[in-house]
Amino acid sequence: MKTPHSISEYHDIYRESITHPEKFWAEIADSFRWKKKWDKVLEWDFNKPEVKWFTGGKLNITENCIDRHLPDKANHTAILWEPNDPNTPARKITYKELHEQVCRVANMLKAHGVKKGDRVCIYLPMVPEAAYAMLGCARIGAIHSVVFAGFSSGSLIDRINDSHCKLVLTADGAFRGDKKIDLKGIVNNAVEKCPSVEKIIVLERTKTPVDMKPGRDLWWHDEMAKVSDTCAAEEMDAEDMLFILYTSGSTGKPKGMVHTCGGYMVYCDYTFRTVFQYKPGQLFWCTADVGWITGHSYIVYGPLSAGATTLIFEGVPSWPDMGRFWHVIEKHQVNIFYTAPTAIRSLQTASIDFVNKHDLSSLQVLGSVGEPINEEAWHWYDKNIGKEKCPIVDTWWQTETGGIMISPIAHVTKLKPAFATLPLPGVQPAIMDEHGNIMTGNGIEGRLAMQFPWPSIARTIYGDHQRYKDTYFSTFRGKYFSGDGCKRDEDGYYRITGRVDDIIIVSGHNMGTAEIESAINEHSAVAESAVVGFPHHLKGQGIYAFVICYEKPREEEKLRNEIKETVAKIIGPIAKPDKIQFVNGLPKTRSGKIMRRILRKVAEGELSNLGDTTTLLDPNVVEEIKKGAH
Ligand code: PRX
Repeated sequence: MKTPHSISEYHDIYRESITHPEKFWAEIADSFRWKKKWDKVLEWDFNKPEVKWFTGGKLNITENCIDRHLPDKANHTAILWEPNDPNTPARKITYKELHEQVCRVANMLKAHGVKKGDRVCIYLPMVPEAAYAMLGCARIGAIHSVVFAGFSSGSLIDRINDSHCKLVLTADGAFRGDKKIDLKGIVNNAVEKCPSVEKIIVLERTKTPVDMKPGRDLWWHDEMAKVSDTCAAEEMDAEDMLFILYTSGSTGKPKGMVHTCGGYMVYCDYTFRTVFQYKPGQLFWCTADVGWITGHSYIVYGPLSAGATTLIFEGVPSWPDMGRFWHVIEKHQVNIFYTAPTAIRSLQTASIDFVNKHDLSSLQVLGSVGEPINEEAWHWYDKNIGKEKCPIVDTWWQTETGGIMISPIAHVTKLKPAFATLPLPGVQPAIMDEHGNIMTGNGIEGRLAMQFPWPSIARTIYGDHQRYKDTYFSTFRGKYFSGDGCKRDEDGYYRITGRVDDIIIVSGHNMGTAEIESAINEHSAVAESAVVGFPHHLKGQGIYAFVICYEKPREEEKLRNEIKETVAKIIGPIAKPDKIQFVNGLPKTRSGKIMRRILRKVAEGELSNLGDTTTLLDPNVVEEIKKGAH
């Protein structure tokens, strides 16, 4: 087996994986159920760019996530669902039931004209049906595009239209703590501007009254009851699209990252087993939303492919109280817990009694994902949750990478707080200097790139291969550029230092500054805006907006609130600026480019150290901005 169980095994396997990558991945891929084996393991050219894994191979990922575990695991729990309300009983879905439900969704989609290659938008809360929906699409070769149910109709419109989704799977509403979110209302508003949408299938969840348009809108339970619970799995080429998932870009609209069937499956499964050292019978809980890549890879595809039990949690960490996560861990005896630093930091602020009243002794491995974890949060997590006996795997990866790339391996890698530590087998990082040269040796800092493909690298941006090339393969010739800064210390350990482009990571969510700016500019009083990140004690980074209005605002606070609401309406509440400063001008170069470096310093409160301002068109602008900073 290729999963290391000691650090010396890791080094041996790693060496082998980069010396003979094709042999390495072929041996791993061999353990899956293929309808036809591949002809070639890898074809690639990062200059084009083009990457293909397991070409000629035929498979269906749902057969690997479900059918191959039957009949042995027919009665094992595949999904353990913990609802929003702790008084509502949890639900266990066995592998057999999962098979039936996924087949029904597949047949339901077929009955409404969805065919292989069609795009289906999934806009659902954290319910088991979200997993059935994804797998139901994959069963028939439809391409799913899951949109996080916290996004508003503007974001939904962009995503549906970009990939021309034919059908939307949604719910009447979503529970989030003590709130209800009107999902169907948001979808109704959105689809008015989405001509490709023919049908909307609505899951009943909150029982909120909703507007259903005859001929277009259907109830999930009615449609599921009409179809059979068996459905042959479509034969997919290894390089056929499995899903599209949108992630923010540093300029313009979100990027629809395309993942394909074969490589994604192999990599998710391998990294799930390896990083968490998953053992049969363990209960795995990843707290991400299925609307993000973490949910795709480590709630649905990775754990199910490994035949694990995956916990899906509908609620929020702070309701009914700040002990909800710890309550769920105790209640279900969770063994592996994978969450985000932002959640840890916010729970850390609550009384430690919320932790201590729960028995967390079932925990064996802890994980962190989405942003750099600060040392303080790391130690709190280690001491209070892991009781200093659970390794913390700080997993670095991206929507684009499909799976974990740099991370400790539980019980194998010696940990160092706030370090993602070492590349996984098959991963070949390079740290680049500003001239585009690979930096050698240790004790260095630069930008993180990848020199060689791994099976789950996103293959393109849906409908825009040129943008894929420009964004990831043009900064460093022949290499994939991650957009992150990175250090390699004296021990050869990697530490991710954060984005070096115009993406800010707010509570673990990627946000493009350009996208937020264009939402702010939608407010009729706003002439121009510039958004930067600043350190935020809970969110990691907060959003700081510098806004120029057509007229000097009379009621600043009121206008701030209106701008925040505009952003919430267009993108979603997560994109609301934390701080808005009204300014008369922005620091621009003579060619009209905003000097964000200066704005970042202001936002960080470093007013005395703004660096070189001599190239500014109007240096007075900076003095005014400094005065108004908060
Ligand atoms: O900046 C890195 C940060 O999150 C970015 C990717 O965001 P997204 O595509 O939304 O995927 C998040 C879940 C995989 C990265 O470019 N990031 C992610 N994990 C870490 C991290 N930064 C530091 N340490 C991590 N463990």
